[in-house]
Amino acid sequence: MARPTVVPRPQERAFGPHELFFSTTDRKGIIRSGNQVFVRVSAHPLEALLGAPHNIIRHPDMPRAVFQLLWSYLDQGKPFAGFVKNMAADGCYYWVMALVVPIDGGYLSVRLKPSSAFFPVVRDLYTELLTIERAAGDGGGAWRAGMAAATARLVEAIGSLGFASYDEFMRIALAAELSGHRDAQRAFAASGHEPEGVTADLAPTLASCGAVEHGLDDLFSRVDGLLATIKQLGTAATYVLGLAGDIHLISLNALVGSCRLERGGEGLSVVTEDLARLSQECTDNVNAMAVQLRELSGSLGETAFSVTAAKLQIEMTSCFIRELSHERLAEPDATADARLRGDLRTLTESLMASTAHLIAALPRAQAPIPRLIRLQHELETDLRRLSSVHLIGAIQAVGIPEAGMFRELLDRIVGQLQRSTGELEQLAEGVASLRQHLPVFERTALDARRATESFRTVALRAA
Ligand SMILES: Cc1cc2nc3c(=O)[nH]c(=O)nc-3n(C[C@H](O)[C@H](O)[C@H](O)COP(=O)(O)O)c2cc1C
Repeated sequence: MARPTVVPRPQERAFGPHELFFSTTDRKGIIRSGNQVFVRVSAHPLEALLGAPHNIIRHPDMPRAVFQLLWSYLDQGKPFAGFVKNMAADGCYYWVMALVVPIDGGYLSVRLKPSSAFFPVVRDLYTELLTIERAAGDGGGAWRAGMAAATARLVEAIGSLGFASYDEFMRIALAAELSGHRDAQRAFAASGHEPEGVTADLAPTLASCGAVEHGLDDLFSRVDGLLATIKQLGTAATYVLGLAGDIHLISLNALVGSCRLERGGEGLSVVTEDLARLSQECTDNVNAMAVQLRELSGSLGETAFSVTAAKLQIEMTSCFIRELSHERLAEPDATADARLRGDLRTLTESLMASTAHLIAALPRAQAPIPRLIRLQHELETDLRRLSSVHLIGAIQAVGIPEAGMFRELLDRIVGQLQRSTGELEQLAEGVASLRQHLPVFERTALDARRATESFRTVALRAA
């Protein structure tokens, strides 16, 4: 049966910043289940949602490019996080930050109300993307070109916000949204409005869920530090790469300059050859460091995202256990109960997968650290040697009147070396802090995994 056409209205559908909701789909995006908050916010009866494609709540203001991005992540088996404007059955709109993760046979999407500073920026960006897509038109496949142009603009805008990729953006945006939700959740709990307790059969599940929440909270509170270190390493790496290039170029110029000197050029060319060799070593070292740094920030980013995802999933599970209990009390119904138990199993398994992913990413995150420290020491030695070669060059150039340009180049090398000290110290600090904190992070993650395993046993028994 054809779905009735919903006309968008400019009214927002209200829901609380402490609330969470989810839906699960098959691999094609056909809705398999959802919780009561989803039903309430979307204003569709549950029966209308189950079996419907997820675009049942698609808002016409959403650019196609965003959904293309979502599906490209999912098709690669990767989780996706992003802002989405949805349309309820009565035409009202509501915005969410959605985390969509692959599960057995399909996907799970957990949503929360956006409140971070990223949200208004992205809302405006989506308006711009939609204008680009609409300007391209639909006919004769023109929509494809429109979607490609909107994607290009999305990538550019993410870059100008200071993010290297959408991956990096979604990690940081999801963590920011989850922090906002956590604060709202705490305020709601303190307000005394939170419904109390759960049925006796679910009490052990909720208690065990609380232990996981506690462990993941501890990890999540460390994520900000991790994300800040990733940023610091990225900035330092960009600088160090530029530095090596500059020194190499100046050294080559010095080499050419010394060859052109008629008097005293031979003495200086020994110095400049040394400079060129050393600066080449620096460049090789710095390139090797850049590879390690990229690897390090990639796996740290993955770790940070897995913690955030697991934290959101345990919060969702905790809300759902309460919801399950209230539904059972309000309306004991065997069919609904079976579905809800299935959902609890899905949430639990998906949480297990996120913690497993986190544990797997941690050794990868730690592997580049010793290599980085070694490369960093080698680079420091090269820079010290460069500094003493410069001194020898400066002494030799004193007696050569035409060596003015040469002296200038040497001074520029020294200037670069002096400027590099601070940046290299920053890099060293970042790496040292990771070396110190990652093992603690790993222990906390292993504790959280143990708590998740106990929770799984209890939850599966209750389900
Ligand atoms: C788990 C999951 C959750 C989704 N949630 C939404 C959603 O909340 N809103 C939405 O418009 N699309 C959502 N989608 C994407 C839709 O399947 C669909 O791609 C999108 O609505 C675009 O529809 P269209 O191709 O008909 O334009 C979701 C997909 C999956 C797999």
